[in-house]
Amino acid sequence: MKLCVVGTGYVGLVGAAVFADWGNEVVGVDIDEEKIKKIQSGEMPIYEPGLAEIVLDNIDQGRLTFTTSLAKGMKDADLVFICVGTPQDDKTGAANLSAVLGVAAEIGGNLDGYKVVVTKSTVPVGTNERVKQIVRENAPKGAHFDVASNPEFLREGSSVEDMNVTDRVVIGAESEKAFEKVKSLYDHLNAVIVETDLRSAEMIKYASNSFLATKISFINEMAQICERAGADVSEVAYGMGLDKRVGKYFLRAGIGYGGSCFPKDVAALYKTSTDKAYDFKLLRSVMEVNENQRHYFMDKVTDYFGMNLDGKTIACLGLAFKSNTDDIRESVSIKIVQALRGLGAKIKAYDPKAMENAQGVLGDFGIEYGEGIYEVMKDADGLCLLTEWSQFGELDLERVKQEMKGKVIFDGRNLLDKEAVEKAGFTYFAIGKRTNGGEYGRFEGGSAILKDAS
Ligand SMILES: NC(=O)c1ccc[n+]([C@@H]2O[C@H](COP(=O)([O-])OP(=O)(O)OC[C@H]3O[C@@H](n4cnc5c(N)ncnc54)[C@H](O)[C@@H]3O)[C@@H](O)[C@H]2O)c1
Repeated sequence: MKLCVVGTGYVGLVGAAVFADWGNEVVGVDIDEEKIKKIQSGEMPIYEPGLAEIVLDNIDQGRLTFTTSLAKGMKDADLVFICVGTPQDDKTGAANLSAVLGVAAEIGGNLDGYKVVVTKSTVPVGTNERVKQIVRENAPKGAHFDVASNPEFLREGSSVEDMNVTDRVVIGAESEKAFEKVKSLYDHLNAVIVETDLRSAEMIKYASNSFLATKISFINEMAQICERAGADVSEVAYGMGLDKRVGKYFLRAGIGYGGSCFPKDVAALYKTSTDKAYDFKLLRSVMEVNENQRHYFMDKVTDYFGMNLDGKTIACLGLAFKSNTDDIRESVSIKIVQALRGLGAKIKAYDPKAMENAQGVLGDFGIEYGEGIYEVMKDADGLCLLTEWSQFGELDLERVKQEMKGKVIFDGRNLLDKEAVEKAGFTYFAIGKRTNGGEYGRFEGGSAILKDAS
């Protein structure tokens, strides 16, 4: 099939490359000229494991090309995918649809025969109907097209693999022809294909992300109770997760979820609920718990050092919002670095892939960017583990001891083994477990406090 993919970011570039790898003829389109030039010259604008290889291979095979011209990209295409961003509107929490609707208008203006316009961007319920209307308003009279919703479920950090091995493909459409066209792209995958209406397809994406975010906030609240009650949240999550009804994923307590999807998608679904005169109370709590989680981590640092970190050097490992990506959008690690710096600390930071992006946001004031894990620890008063890169969980504790001036570790991702860290002579703070750094006594008598407060 001939495909056009509009927007070559984390979803569009990976999608275009994987579709080409499946044997389709694909044109990737983006308004960002620099980005297109970079890709054309073989340089990847983002880091994703395995991406560079398939992009370059499919360019070589002549199946994958890139352009800034939507008209060129769409020419003779069977399917046109919309993969542009839908960021959060800061004022309302709603998804900003200007890029999606703008592309829809442009697609309408360039229709040259029957096509299915497929929205892959995450969009609120009802958006595909607006896309259809806008395409129609801009299309030549009598032009034939269908719209379809095909939300994307890939995870950054393993997106190439996720597109090839997925649990399900969701397709929302209104005509048999559109279903068949979109389905034929995915037929070879060993995945359940969910055929549904446009609105349900749109909702499945938000429901999925919001449910996963709920699991994270649930385990983060469990962490609070575990720490107070003397249980270990990692043990609790393991024991819970073995039950298939619960599932083991997204049950890792930490500093809260971030990234370009969960925060905005939960907020957008909440906005949809209030627009429909319904207060989705659970989601409101999910967001609140998530917001609190990083303050709970910061409290551990300030309980130990005090509120004034002037003259303290803190080594921070991890800046990306999660491991295996260079994406720092809504990264909680970045927010914590900013908070530490705000209290006067000098930061020495390292991330295997996100240094350049982080430097773009954090600048250089009060921060030194190191070249390796141990380099940033040199003479540090404290160490914060902020992103769950696997290499941070394999620290050589003797080496850490040699490099650091202070002997305290704040493990925001529960990466280290409590016994080993404490045995090595560190004061250790983790999430949802009692450690030698915690003040066990401060949680006693809580019910009296709550009673007084009520
Ligand atoms: N990143 C993820 O992990 C992920 C996963 C599933 C779904 N999604 C959803 O997919 C969508 C895209 O996300 P992303 O992370 O790939 O975004 P992104 O910001 O990485 O990429 C968007 C791209 O669209 C381009 N663009 C903007 N306006 C354009 C226009 N008019 N014409 C052509 N190109 C244009 C931008 O230049 C950019 O390259 C969002 O709705 C997101 O919620 C993202």
